[in-house]
Amino acid sequence: MTDLLSKFDELIETREQLLSTGLTDPFNLVMDEVVSPTVAICNGKRTILLGTYNYMGMTFDPDVIAAGKQALDDYGSGTTGSRVLNGTYAGHKACEEALKDFYAMDHAMVFSTGYQANLGIISTIAGKDDYIILDIDSHASIYDGCALGNAQIVPFRHNDVGALEKRLKRIPEGAGKLVILEGVYSMLGDIAPLKEMVAVSKAAGAMVLVDEAHSMGFIGENGRGVAEAQGVINDVDFIIGTFSKSVGTVGGFCVSNHPKFEILRLVCRPYVFTASLPPSVVATAATSIGKLRHGADKRAHLWKNSKKLHAGLKALGFTLGTDAPQSAIIAVIMSDLEKGAAMWEALLNEGLYVNLARPPATPGNMTLLRCSLCAEHSDGQVDQILGMFEVAGRATGCIG
Ligand SMILES: Cc1ncc(COP(=O)(O)O)c(C=O)c1O
Repeated sequence: MTDLLSKFDELIETREQLLSTGLTDPFNLVMDEVVSPTVAICNGKRTILLGTYNYMGMTFDPDVIAAGKQALDDYGSGTTGSRVLNGTYAGHKACEEALKDFYAMDHAMVFSTGYQANLGIISTIAGKDDYIILDIDSHASIYDGCALGNAQIVPFRHNDVGALEKRLKRIPEGAGKLVILEGVYSMLGDIAPLKEMVAVSKAAGAMVLVDEAHSMGFIGENGRGVAEAQGVINDVDFIIGTFSKSVGTVGGFCVSNHPKFEILRLVCRPYVFTASLPPSVVATAATSIGKLRHGADKRAHLWKNSKKLHAGLKALGFTLGTDAPQSAIIAVIMSDLEKGAAMWEALLNEGLYVNLARPPATPGNMTLLRCSLCAEHSDGQVDQILGMFEVAGRATGCIG
């Protein structure tokens, strides 16, 4: 018998080597208690959370929690069915209405996760004879959507408008073309030049899909994302998003003004062949989305936090993923996995949780400590975070 798991031997060895040094497993941390959007108890220690996607801090919003509890009482714990059979409740429709209002778009389709939204929409609209032109640093769910649909994939260099234009010119005349971009790239926290990229794509006759997973709620005047901030939201054909970040629960969606959009509900396999979200989840999502529309103060505070942390880390001597803060994500670049893991553990011991990100999730084989800020981080917490980075950075030799 060929052991089908032997393909993972190298990874098993790297992991065992790392853990044999006595290091805490960075990918197996348990949150014993979650106190607030910014604080949890980990290994018995009060820990500031700087590695969640809870950008707008909605997870403990009293209205959101009340809506979830009410839906649980009124509709039970789950739908036990697909959206196209018994799994569409009033709450799913209300959630789609909330998204249509939030984005000022004609159509919204809610999926069970953001991963499934990308998987479903991409594989359904771009098939075997179509071309998908995508940024090489695209999220795994985008690549998996391309693979499921069997389209021809044409990657281009990260955030390079000229490279996108060149690739578009090489595609056979008359072929179906879908350009896929992200608003914020989640590893380095950099944003896409959507204005230029959407213009180039439209000039070449391509449809455009933008994944705004990491910008919804925060970026843009109304929190609609980078496409809104750069004034091109009405030129984007499909926006993909998730409830697992600023919305503060779980689920995914696509919004669009395309007049034929509703037919996708019948032909999109990751929408049809899976159970719909529990009523409590769609109720929390709809309430949260409604409140995010009016989150201007929170957005302003989150920008303040992002700027302060970026400037502070830079002043301490850390190498960051972007020259200036572009989103709520600030990536601290580590020289290698060993150093990254040591720094991650030193921060945890100080009482700070960040994400340790490593290849293949990261671009250019980088090891990163990914910091994601929350609108609920206080000024004092950001000061504390900087103090912890200084102590851990000196102890591990990451800074002098
Ligand atoms: C860019 C991007 N798209 C989609 C997703 C998937 O979202 P979800 O957690 O809802 O599956 C993620 C999750 O990290 C993401 O970063």
